[in-house]
Amino acid sequence: MSGRVVGSELIEDARQRGRIVFEILPGDIVTDVARETAARIGIRLVDGPLEKAAPVGSDGNTFMRRGLYRRSAKWVAPARNVKAKARRFSKIALIGAGGVGGNIAHLAAMADMADEIALIDIAPGLAAATALDLNHTGGITGTKARCIGGENLAMVSGADVIVVTAGRARSPGMTRADLIETNARVIRSAAEAIRTGAPEAIVIVVTNPLDEMTVEMLRATGFPRERVLGMAGTLDSSRFRNALAMAAGVTPADVQAITLGSHGEEMAPITSLAKIKGRGLDKFLSQEQIDACVKDAVTGGGQVVALKKSGSATIAPAHSTIELIDHIRGARSGPIPVSVMLEGEYGISDVVLGVPAHLGRSGMISVEELRLTDDEQQALNTAADAIRKRLGMNS
Ligand code: 2OP
Repeated sequence: MSGRVVGSELIEDARQRGRIVFEILPGDIVTDVARETAARIGIRLVDGPLEKAAPVGSDGNTFMRRGLYRRSAKWVAPARNVKAKARRFSKIALIGAGGVGGNIAHLAAMADMADEIALIDIAPGLAAATALDLNHTGGITGTKARCIGGENLAMVSGADVIVVTAGRARSPGMTRADLIETNARVIRSAAEAIRTGAPEAIVIVVTNPLDEMTVEMLRATGFPRERVLGMAGTLDSSRFRNALAMAAGVTPADVQAITLGSHGEEMAPITSLAKIKGRGLDKFLSQEQIDACVKDAVTGGGQVVALKKSGSATIAPAHSTIELIDHIRGARSGPIPVSVMLEGEYGISDVVLGVPAHLGRSGMISVEELRLTDDEQQALNTAADAIRKRLGMNS
């Protein structure tokens, strides 16, 4: 219990330090004037505790300034919106037709990515209703993609790409890691159906805790690492770009920045090579503002959970999954942050971690190995150890 009296001066102080979110801890008393001040100066009050930013070595600010990317000064973020001839899939299957799955289906149908989009959900009628609803758009949008929906996992049969969003979502105050046991069972039954019905599919895991569930999917399907990917880096990077854009008063399209590490406390938003309008962050933002943006990226998902009270983010995760699918089908190119099983890259093995990788028709093509400083390497090692520990593996 925190027990602070949060008055307007604390809110104003946070604003001056570049914060756009103020965390209310259990036991805090927030005055009416503080609430009015927050609304007036554009600070969001969110229920905490939110996840903490990753410990980043002995000197966090120095670490973040130096950043993780050393290989090429030009390498900041993947090329976006590259127009190329994209593959059209026969079938995309979505296990989980809630907010994220439904939005993925919508975006995939609007982009005509597949002949068939199958939605599957254990909630009676939900997937069928969403599929019907989407088909009803066809007279307006002209999409050729046909949607089907049902409760049977066997509907994954023949899919080229399968996205798994099924599982329990966080409630306020929960970390993603709190979901491990419950959601591992969901992943195992999805994996069994995938192994039987779509043994050649590329699987994208979105279910949390992301890195751990991607390991579980790999183990349960027995698929090669190239065909089991976790979606997190594209989402966290987009949140990071948004935070930087808001703080600098520009649009996210003016910002290049990415995150690595885990989808959670060990996330590492990269600042040193991040750019706003092609220039370093320090040309636009104070170090305190940059630190606030880092925290905003790490806690972004938790902020949505805190505001919704029930369920987690849906729209940004869907777009972030579509970004991966776009790379797989060849509509975009360049390395993007994605959670993959490492086999010696960065000196790490047997654990899934967010790293830059190239994707294509066969899934993951290669991990982009960057030259890291000792601190940077340590941050990845820390993330790998934390994930291993949560999975009960020996480090
Ligand atoms: C998020 O960060 C759902 O984990 C997802 O919003």
